[in-house]
This record gives sequence, C-alpha cells and structure tokens, in this order.
Amino acid sequence: MALKGKKIIVAITGSIAAYKIPHFVRLLVKAGAEVQILMTAAAKLFVSPLSLATVSGRQTLSDVTDGTTWNNHVALGLWADAMIIAPCSANTLGKLANGICDNIVTAVYLSARCPVFIAPAMDEDMWLHPSTRNNINKLQEYGNHIIPTEHGELASGLIGPGRMSEPENMIKILSDFYVLTTLPLAGQNAVVTAGPTYERIDPVRFIGNFSTGKMGIAIAESLANAGARVTLILGPTQHKPTSNSSVNVINVESAAQMYDATMALAHEVQIAVLAAAVADYKPLEYADNKIKKQTDDLKISLTKTTDILASLGKIKQDGQTLIGFALETENEQENARKKLEAKNADMIVLNSLRDEGAGFGHDTNKVTLLLKNGTINPLPLLTKKEVANAITEHIILLRNEANNI
Ligand code: CTP
Repeated sequence: MALKGKKIIVAITGSIAAYKIPHFVRLLVKAGAEVQILMTAAAKLFVSPLSLATVSGRQTLSDVTDGTTWNNHVALGLWADAMIIAPCSANTLGKLANGICDNIVTAVYLSARCPVFIAPAMDEDMWLHPSTRNNINKLQEYGNHIIPTEHGELASGLIGPGRMSEPENMIKILSDFYVLTTLPLAGQNAVVTAGPTYERIDPVRFIGNFSTGKMGIAIAESLANAGARVTLILGPTQHKPTSNSSVNVINVESAAQMYDATMALAHEVQIAVLAAAVADYKPLEYADNKIKKQTDDLKISLTKTTDILASLGKIKQDGQTLIGFALETENEQENARKKLEAKNADMIVLNSLRDEGAGFGHDTNKVTLLLKNGTINPLPLLTKKEVANAITEHIILLRNEANNI
C-alpha cells in the first residue's frame, strides 16, 4: 500500500547480486510502484537490460546519452520519489562518497532530491576495509539510507557479511520508510514514564505501589504507532514491557533513577508523558544491613522524592508538550486542574479509583482528560489500548497547534 503510485529509480551496479534485481523490480511493480531502471556498464555483465525493461515496463537506461538522445539525469533525479542503488558495488560506493560522476547512476545520484537508499554488496574483506567503512559513514552523514548487508554465503565462497539484503527485505524497508514519514508524529521524540518505583529501605525491603505499568506501556506503543521515536522509562514490573521495536526501553528502579533517566532526555523530546506512579516519599536513610525485628514499633522517616513532572514543567521549552497523570479520590477535577497548573502541564489524565474497572492492574481504564485551555473530556470505560490511543489523538492535536498546522 505504502509504495502505491511511488516513482522509484532502481540503479544497478556491477555485482553478482544484480541477478536478484528483476525479482525485486517485480515486487515493486506488484506493490503499485512505477520503476525506472538505470544500470552501469558493469551491471550489464550480470543481468540483461532487456529482462529489466520487461519487468519494469520502461526502457532501461545505461548511458547519459546513446549518441542521438539525451537521458536527462537532472529530470530523472527530480522525477523520483526514491532512488535505490542495489546492488551497490565497492567501486560505486567510493564514487558516491566522493562526488565522482562518470556514468548515469552517479549523475542521477548527484541530481536526486529524493531519499536515496543504498544496498551495498561485496565480499567480506572489501566490506570490512577501512575505506569502505569511511565511505559508508560519509554517505550516511550525507543523509543517505544504508540498507544493512546480510551475513551469509558470498560469491567468493567465503561466509561473512557483505551480501546484499534480500529483495523482500528491501521492499519492507522502503514501505516502512513511507509509512513512518507520513504518520502524524513522524520525526518527533517522546519520553514516557511508566510503572511503579521501588524505594529501598534495606537490602530486602522497599516501599512500592501496585502500578503494573500497563497504561504507560500502551501509551508508548500508541505514540510509536503514530510515528514518534519513543523512549519508555519503566519502573520494576512483571508486565511484558513491549514488543514494539520502535520503543526503546530503559529499566529503572527508584524515583531518583527515573528522574535521572527522564531529565537526561528533557532537551531532546517534543513530547513527555509521565504515566509512572512515582513514589512521593522515600526512606530518609537506607540501612546497609537487614533491619532486625527488635522493638514493637518501628518508625521509618521518609523524605520527599523530586517531582519529575514538575521538574520538566519548570524547564519546558516552547513547542514541548507535557502530559501528566493524576490519581485522585476526592474533588477529582479540581485537584487535577491544580496539578495541571502547578506542574505547567498541557494535559492531565485524571484517573479515579472510585470507577469500577479503572486503575492499577486492570486491562480497562476510565479517565477524564483535562486540557490547559479548559477543555474537559470525560472518556467512557475503555481498554487501556483505547485510552492510550485517545491520549495520542489529543497529543497529535496539541502538537499540530504547537506547530501551527
Ligand atoms: N510525578 C512525578 N514525579 C514524582 C511524583 C509524581 O513525575 N516524584 C508525576 C506522576 O507521574 C503523575 C503526576 O506527577 O504524572 C501526578 O502524580 P500524583 O502522585 O498523582 O500527584 P502528586 O503531585 O504527587 O500529588 P498528590 O500525591 O498529593 O496527589
């Protein structure tokens, strides 16, 4: 779906992996893309221009000119929505990294304004050579997307890295790219805190709470599904963090660790959602040895932890969106609005423990969203996934407002 109607240049260079390209082109065409083939002279030794013209439905171009007509490389560079150089030989990699322009592939590469994907293919020693490494680094710095090589059997008979990625995988990388860049939170960084914190009393005891982190984990996944790059800072929980590979999980135990991990990202994120049930107090002192059962009464002095939400609110920059949670048992909306103002948040998600099916451990939740502009949005009893999606939708609206969209 993501590749439907996309104009894609497939540029082939001299490598045995070129024999896989007609299959790759068929997959692109099947996905609805328009494909223009370019090939270097060396590529023609590995795969026939006629096969490629047949599968792409367009004339294969292998020269800037055939002596009578001019294949306008600038126009081709502007026509394309994406260019993929596959397989990209060590020789072409070196040319691309150094601005050498001596054939139709290198000329169109230099003229292309679209995203460029490079799928290298070469023998292990060539792939690992420092000049290849430098060329790859340079090309990445220039904003090109390098499609990782695969480990396996090479044309030399050696086994190692350097095999061109399989056509099916290259199709997936291209379509994921289009899906991700068209999503509403594409290119935005988010941090989400979730779960409880444990505050150690002695080596075997702690002060904790019943949070499982389910709500925060669902929010992290929902934001990632909307295109954001998400860091989930997760307190100790038995609940499976997430299988979403776009969510980077950092495990922490205490409020202080959660504070450090979150504040380290404060200047890098556009979105912060603080869903964790952070301990408000921790033991004033930590006993190095297990506290023995001696007296009938035992008093443990507690001291306040630093409020992460309030700390982020203090240093909030223009264009940052800050979301907090409030768990209230009385005067819910009034208390939640006070929190919103005191902590400089843009929205507070109000949980009420009085609602059946809401709160710790459940798969459902009933929340009211309170926005800075005064809007109050009570949601019905929903699954935590649905609540997470509703929160994400509000965040998208707030982000659009912040970006004047
Ligand atoms: N929070 C935080 N750091 C803390 C304590 C709370 O970031 N040390 C965040 C929570 O993640 C939540 C919000 O603050 O987003 C509200 O937490 P809550 O405990 O309900 O409110 P408090 O401000 O601590 O006030 P109170 O406990 O008196 O209701």
